[in-house]
Amino acid sequence: MNVIFLGPPGAGKGTQSKRLEEQYGLVQISTGDMLRAEVARASEIGKQAKSLMDAGKLVPDELIIAMLHSRISQPDCAKGFILDGFPRTLGQADALDKMLSAENKKIDVVLFLDVDEDILADRISGRFTCSKCGATYNEVSKPPQKAGECDVCGSHEFTRRADDKRETVVERLKEYRNLTAPILPFYEKTGRLYKINGMLPTAQVTADIEAVMAGK
Ligand code: AP5
Ligand code: ZN
Repeated sequence: MNVIFLGPPGAGKGTQSKRLEEQYGLVQISTGDMLRAEVARASEIGKQAKSLMDAGKLVPDELIIAMLHSRISQPDCAKGFILDGFPRTLGQADALDKMLSAENKKIDVVLFLDVDEDILADRISGRFTCSKCGATYNEVSKPPQKAGECDVCGSHEFTRRADDKRETVVERLKEYRNLTAPILPFYEKTGRLYKINGMLPTAQVTADIEAVMAGK
């Protein structure tokens, strides 16, 4: 089964794809995580992407489509994958359908996490990650059990994403509205789009997603 998570920045795509990955044995592919890894090792792709990401802008379609194509061609993706953060433009959605049909594959379900804009900025600015093991937290919805200490590895060091500043979040939301939201009808007209209320507590959102997946 191949799944897409759509939704604005901070909707919970990463949170829910990690849960689905464990439950269904699918491979999570986050284009945001892939780009941040490229930036961290200062590769050619990373150099091209960094200033755009820091400004809250999308990176060019050609770059991201090539990166995604090479990732989903890897053997581990044969068991099925979850796309988290791709596609984000009509051009990417179209390229994805073409690259999959060339390999007799398809997207089975598109999960749209619907969250009101006024909630998103607070969620994103509350987000932080353990520097040592990568466990994710949120000041409001998921604080560590002991303040300042990672539940998983006990580390006291945390990081925040460079693009999680409020002014950058405003830009990311604009890019979402202008370039990504228009792809919803693309999937709706082929009957693959399922709208999930992403404003409910995380466990309830997971349960609603599982109900959709059970019917597939
Ligand atoms: P990317 O990394 O994809 O970021 P994003 O789409 O902006 O999404 P986020 O990771 O911010 O949010 P999320 O929906 O995963 O939410 P999360 O689960 O973390 O992209 C970053 C940049 O890379 C882009 O701006 C662009 O430059 C570039 N890029 C990436 N892909 C691209 C593409 N295809 N084309 C072009 N450019 C691309 O949750 C957020 C917070 O809320 C967390 O703290 C979480 O704990 C909390 N939370 C989650 N669910 C709930 C809930 N139900 N209730 C309460 N709190 C919750
Ligand atoms: Zn940790």
